[in-house]
Amino acid sequence: MTGCPFHDASPAKEKFRPPKPPGRKSKASGLVKLLVGRSNIFSAMNERLYRGWLGRSNLLIHQAFLVNQPDLVRRVMVERPMEFPKSPVMRRALEGLLGESVFVTNGEQWKRQRRMIDPAFAGGKLRGLFPVMRDCADDMVARVADMADGIPRSIDSEMTHVTADVIFRTLFSTPITQKDAYAVFEAFGRYQQAAPFVSLRSLLGAPSLWPRWFPSKSDQAGKEIRRLLLAFIERRRVEIDEGQAPDDLATAIMTTRDPESGHMFDAVEMLDQVAIFFLAGHETSAAALGWTLYLISKDQEVQDRMRAEAQEVLGDRKPDFSDMKALSFTRDVFREAMRLYPPVPFVIRRASKRERMRNYDVPKGSSLIVSQWFLQRHEKLWDHPDLFDPDRWNTENGRERARDAYIPFSVGARVCPGAGFALQEAALLLSELVRRFKFLPVENYAPTPVMQVTLRAGGGVRVRIEPVEGSSTKAEAHLRTTGETSNGARA
Ligand code: HEM
Repeated sequence: MTGCPFHDASPAKEKFRPPKPPGRKSKASGLVKLLVGRSNIFSAMNERLYRGWLGRSNLLIHQAFLVNQPDLVRRVMVERPMEFPKSPVMRRALEGLLGESVFVTNGEQWKRQRRMIDPAFAGGKLRGLFPVMRDCADDMVARVADMADGIPRSIDSEMTHVTADVIFRTLFSTPITQKDAYAVFEAFGRYQQAAPFVSLRSLLGAPSLWPRWFPSKSDQAGKEIRRLLLAFIERRRVEIDEGQAPDDLATAIMTTRDPESGHMFDAVEMLDQVAIFFLAGHETSAAALGWTLYLISKDQEVQDRMRAEAQEVLGDRKPDFSDMKALSFTRDVFREAMRLYPPVPFVIRRASKRERMRNYDVPKGSSLIVSQWFLQRHEKLWDHPDLFDPDRWNTENGRERARDAYIPFSVGARVCPGAGFALQEAALLLSELVRRFKFLPVENYAPTPVMQVTLRAGGGVRVRIEPVEGSSTKAEAHLRTTGETSNGARA
């Protein structure tokens, strides 16, 4: 326990057990079921994986291993990441949209890209992005106020909207409602709908002969997104050259030189990076926020404690960057949501040489799957792994597992560069939501986790929303209390 009143949960309270698809019990290959069932990966996987350390699957001529033991995960991701590069299948599956982005490259090319991207996400820069995120939160509050009528509804599209707005405004200083930005957003929606199979094909380590079953729609949407984003980048290049560029992520990245080679991203290289920022930067956060709202709709006590914390820390004023640290229970709730429903439930690597793991020979070229889903619910590692318990992070077991079995942002050299950004955004959006609205459960509703580009609730996260009594749901109210304009400037 931390001594913080919001962390002081009653030990007697029964914790909520959120939906988890039953694993497969039979020995029959999960491959066919996977292909037939398409989206529900988890039901097709053997339920022993929740207890095992290393699983092997022979997929046609290809071998895939599920690495589920903390020291083996460490070996692959932290100790020798260059010997376990990203799978080329992943690259092929996503290249129509991402080109040669940092998400899919390997070796020297990847190292150079990270050297140029990482500075834009450093701690000090996040502080600078905070006012922009806060503007997005204000707009979100105004939209959610129109939904606060107690009627069951899906919250996903709002979470996707606000996170897309955050990424677009922090990247290009352009709200998502602006016409060209909205066109990107809309094309991403089509891309995601057309490409749920990307991850599954990747997971299977499918060889290049594998037929492409969904090429046209996702490829078309990918091309359109790239055309629209390129126009933003070209405009920004001109603004940089004229000394007129706003101080945002795009300018930061486009003006950074690789400290080793002096190289700067050209327009197409920048386009590849922007495409992944947009995809990774909003879809993941939207998924995690949606699951969080579902979980707190089912556990009103946790939600009340978040609200009490938000009211205590923020009162009735506009949030500041420094408040985000103080919202520690809210952050624990978000961490717990990402443990149970990791937006990226699998990452895949390739063994670049023969390897020995436990009792197995891992042939060169095998796929190694590290699964946030299985690792973060491992029955031998976690206390009551399937319960929603944000207080676990203050127990000895929770603290230990946070170090070796909790990797929603991945771990090691290829850890997500946007982790700090995403945590700041989540603390802000969640605290702004719970201090104004109540999220209530929908009767007889239990979402099924399905694999789209990220882990989503099949059919959407459904909740009922009501205003918190006495709270202001309009952004102007707290602006009045601080006398600031919505740009953060003093009026
Ligand atoms: C809750 C939100 C997020 C989650 C759970 C998440 C998770 C992840 C994970 C698991 C990876 C590693 C994938 C792999 O190794 O195959 C990753 C990589 C990446 N993420 Fe995130 N991410 C989030 C938000 C963001 C944001 C906000 C941005 C940028 C604005 C971002 C940009 C990236 C990039 C560029 C990579 C590739 C890094 C590399 O391969 O070196 N992510 N993310």
